[in-house]
Amino acid sequence: MSDHIVMTKTTPKDVLLATLGGLFAPGLTIFLIVMLVLGVRAGMGTPDTAPMLDKAVRERIQPYGVSVAVDPNAPRVERSGEAVYTEVCAGCHGSGALGAPKFQEKGDWAKRNAQGYAMLLEHAIKGLNKMPARGGDPDLSDMEVARGIVHMANAAGASFEPVLKKEIEPSAADLARGKVVYADNCASCHDTGVTGAQKLSDAAAWAPLLKQGKESLYEAAIKGSFGGPAKGGNEKLSDADTRVAVDYMVAEVKAVAK
Ligand code: HEC
Ligand code: HEC
Repeated sequence: MSDHIVMTKTTPKDVLLATLGGLFAPGLTIFLIVMLVLGVRAGMGTPDTAPMLDKAVRERIQPYGVSVAVDPNAPRVERSGEAVYTEVCAGCHGSGALGAPKFQEKGDWAKRNAQGYAMLLEHAIKGLNKMPARGGDPDLSDMEVARGIVHMANAAGASFEPVLKKEIEPSAADLARGKVVYADNCASCHDTGVTGAQKLSDAAAWAPLLKQGKESLYEAAIKGSFGGPAKGGNEKLSDADTRVAVDYMVAEVKAVAK
């Protein structure tokens, strides 16, 4: 008898468990339904790739003023000579302030250009009298300064090209290694031109790139440029191998151009 009583006796623990279960089961169900609905709504009409999402965010915040959503991790975009000039150099060179040689004023530039491009580059990077180093913007890269100079000097009759230093010709061994790296990592796009990659056989497409100098091509290949993945998408590729692949590409392009 006493056994039977014990079996059917409801302990406080049972009551607690039953109560909790009764509360939680529907609670959990409601929670899951809510999550499901939210998930479906989030998925609807929202671009699913990160860059598009970023763009959508920028567009959304646009009406409230200038977009200031600058991603500090975004790859740095090298500015053109014209952009550098407008943003940094024009402040003085546009008007001739502080005795700066004035834009498009051939008389102001003739003697300076006659010194040669290398000297202009050195002066602009290091500064000269009232001309501040890098035009006062320490964030400008050497290549951007070079492009700014060329933009101004050429507008006054020079025909310089923005290069940073004399390019060292790659050795035969580098080119051979570069050919292998290229075949494995780069040919898939640069042989076919897929996704807008410049085809190796297309000398015209490469002409403006070659003018930027190899340093800038190395940088674009290592860090990635618009549409071009960093290291051709192979993050295991070393910087050195990426460089020789670029060396090989440039050599091929030059051979085609001949
Ligand atoms: C704050 C004013 C100022 C700004 C900004 C400025 N410059 Fe200058 N720049 C000068 C002045 C002044 C000179 C003349 C210096 C002299 O010969 O004593 C000069 C001269 C030069 C020269 C000629 C150097 C030579 O050897 O004769 C170059 C090249 C040059 N600037 C490039 C640039 C570039 C590129 C930028 C923008 C990235 C820039 N400057 C921005 C004031 C400025
Ligand atoms: C998935 C396709 C793809 C692969 C793989 C690829 N690239 Fe590219 N690459 C591109 C595209 C697209 C561009 C054009 C980007 C642009 O317009 O700036 C480009 C541009 C370049 C440029 C010119 C950069 C500039 O200054 O604009 C260089 C140099 C380059 N790639 C090197 C390489 C090297 C080296 C490899 C292999 C290690 C490689 N690429 C693999 C797609 C690719």
